[in-house]
Amino acid sequence: MKLSKKVTAMAMAAMMVFSMTACGNDSAAKPDATATGGNAQTPETKAATEAATQAATEAATQAATQAEETTAAGGNIGVCIYKFDDAFMTTYRNALQEILEGKGYTVTFMDGKNDQAEQNNQINNFIAQKVDALIINPVMTSAADQIIDTVKNADIPTVLINREPTAEQMSAYDKLVYVGCDARQSGTMQGELILDTPNKGDINGDGKISYIMIQGDPENVDAQYRTEFSVKALKDAGMEVEELDLQRGDWDRNKGQEIAQNDLAKFGDEIEVVFCNNDDMAIGALQAIQAAGRKVNEDIYLVGVDALDAALNEVANGNMTGTVLNDAKGQAAGAVEAMEALLGGKTYASGEQSIYVDYVKVTPENVADFQ
Ligand code: GAL
Repeated sequence: MKLSKKVTAMAMAAMMVFSMTACGNDSAAKPDATATGGNAQTPETKAATEAATQAATEAATQAATQAEETTAAGGNIGVCIYKFDDAFMTTYRNALQEILEGKGYTVTFMDGKNDQAEQNNQINNFIAQKVDALIINPVMTSAADQIIDTVKNADIPTVLINREPTAEQMSAYDKLVYVGCDARQSGTMQGELILDTPNKGDINGDGKISYIMIQGDPENVDAQYRTEFSVKALKDAGMEVEELDLQRGDWDRNKGQEIAQNDLAKFGDEIEVVFCNNDDMAIGALQAIQAAGRKVNEDIYLVGVDALDAALNEVANGNMTGTVLNDAKGQAAGAVEAMEALLGGKTYASGEQSIYVDYVKVTPENVADFQ
């Protein structure tokens, strides 16, 4: 907002100088044209007028160039986050803010409060304010069609983040890109973290890995794939598995703690592995594990995803078996790069609208690299 006002003001100033000059020219020219009518300018006034005209033209050109530079270096960006009260999306939001503001953009962040209707209003408001581009972390993946339709009708370049629509949905609009990660990879890595333990997750040696699964919001593909691919990695390695419980914890630390507490009370030592779809729930589960007198990496394994600072500390202390880096900074940088490509006029063909950033396994051996 501020920037475009500034640009408009500068452009207006330039136009005013320019039209004042043009007027000056006019009034200077008229007497010339009517010179035969006996209203001729003296050589002194003519020279003075010419000098004034030149100065004014220079000022106008300078102001116009300045206005152009301001437009190129900045712009108004609207960012919609599904909810501010999400640990990973907070690190992501901070990374976006740092990069965008560092590049001279004016950024407004909106909290969708996990309510799609609220987010729809926020998107419409941004459109009414004529933002230059949008970055949207949808509340519901199922709302993708509607969101895409809205931004397409408004012709606003848009980058979707964190919650991936299908390639078919995205193909409806060629000024639309998704930047995120392939959640299958993070699930597979979680399984590998368990397979890399001395007893491959079979602590009691009964020939099977007995686990509980604390799932994120199941509407979200990250939750679906991490749940599926973590266990698939174990099976693909020839291990037998037993699911003791699967419950949704909606990415939330308190829910992770409650689910783990109840399961530990119910299944006790039978639980060998606690899979959490993200770190915040894993930190909650760790509280329950410790309260139950269990010891991670000795009588139970615990893995998460995201590499939040708190989880990195627990991996380093031996209180989490491992986590998987969900690269917030890399995704934020990718999102801004894609946004700038769109602002530069690039369009994306169907099937080429998803840009992925790799996950990385984090263990006690390499955790220092991430801290
Ligand atoms: C995931 C992340 C979770 C949560 C979720 C929100 O990628 O691992 O912690 O932030 O996104 O959609």
